[in-house]
Amino acid sequence: MFAPNQLLEKINAHIANLQYARPPQALYDPISYVLALGGKRIRPVLMMMAYNLYRDDVEAVYNPATAIEVYHNYTLLHDDLMDRADKRRGKETVHRIWGDNAAILSGDAMLVLAYQYMAQCPTEHLKKLMDIFNQTALEICEGQQMDMDFEQRNDVEENEYLEMIRLKTSVLLAASMKIGAIMAGASDEDADCLYDFGINLGLAFQLKDDLLDVYGDTSVFGKNIGGDILCNKKTYLLIQALANANDTQLQQLNEWIAKENYDPQQKIEAVTSLYNQIGVKAMCEQRILAYTLQAEKRLAALNVPEINKQQIKQLMNDLMNREV
Ligand code: IPE
Ligand code: IPE
Ligand code: MG
Ligand code: MG
Ligand code: MG
Repeated sequence: MFAPNQLLEKINAHIANLQYARPPQALYDPISYVLALGGKRIRPVLMMMAYNLYRDDVEAVYNPATAIEVYHNYTLLHDDLMDRADKRRGKETVHRIWGDNAAILSGDAMLVLAYQYMAQCPTEHLKKLMDIFNQTALEICEGQQMDMDFEQRNDVEENEYLEMIRLKTSVLLAASMKIGAIMAGASDEDADCLYDFGINLGLAFQLKDDLLDVYGDTSVFGKNIGGDILCNKKTYLLIQALANANDTQLQQLNEWIAKENYDPQQKIEAVTSLYNQIGVKAMCEQRILAYTLQAEKRLAALNVPEINKQQIKQLMNDLMNREV
């Protein structure tokens, strides 16, 4: 079996050699830019790890792994535009450098490229894989729409938030693992088990992302800290803060949410200070742990030798302790 960092090297080398660029340069430059910035590549790595539970010839999943990573990067171009984010992977976002239209159109081109890579999967699995990919892609749009809708609402409940992050984030991690399993010829039970593992991993992963958006270090995290606070994102932290605040804290939170003109840094500091007073960081960490344990249960039910599961378990724990 390959270690995660070996799989990462392999997929990075493969992605670096992709030959999609042609004129007009203005369309393809942003694509090369964002793909070259790398990122963690966890989706293709998870797909390869799922495949590697059953088979060693991991090159066999390069096409769907590339498809998923290109697709993920496309969502980032559009997401950064929607979230008014200036920074991604420590660099300026595409819309900041090339403008909003570039983020839209280069993103669209990446979506098409993702489908082209996906379509190169072996015909015996193609129908099944395309069904999964299509359903996942639509669900992500649904999750992103909910995320945007929630910016305007102050009564978002925990279960609505969890459904929103399942859709915008978890299903892609889950689908990556399921695709890896199907490509390897795993049983339907195993493929579904890995999907459920990915869902729980994804929920924990997005909770951690929300946490880092407040408590991370920009130079490591690669995104501007406090972006979610400025957008009034209904993260787990804000939902718990609203639910557990005393009267004074609640009034202050609501004032900051409603304020139209403010100094961004001041709002981030004030809301973070309220989070600290209310103690929402620990609540979020508890929730991350709970989903990690759920994921471990799904992994335990998988029909492969225990020893083969260790690397996936380790990767999950590393992701939950990540700073990036
Ligand atoms: C960012 O995904 C979007 C989320 C679902 C939180 P990643 O954290 O996987 O981003 P990269 O690809 O490693 O940069
Ligand atoms: C990520 O949500 C979901 C998708 C990109 C589909 P975020 O908006 O939290 O992701 P980051 O924090 O910008 O990476
Ligand atoms: Mg974002
Ligand atoms: Mg977003
Ligand atoms: Mg985020």
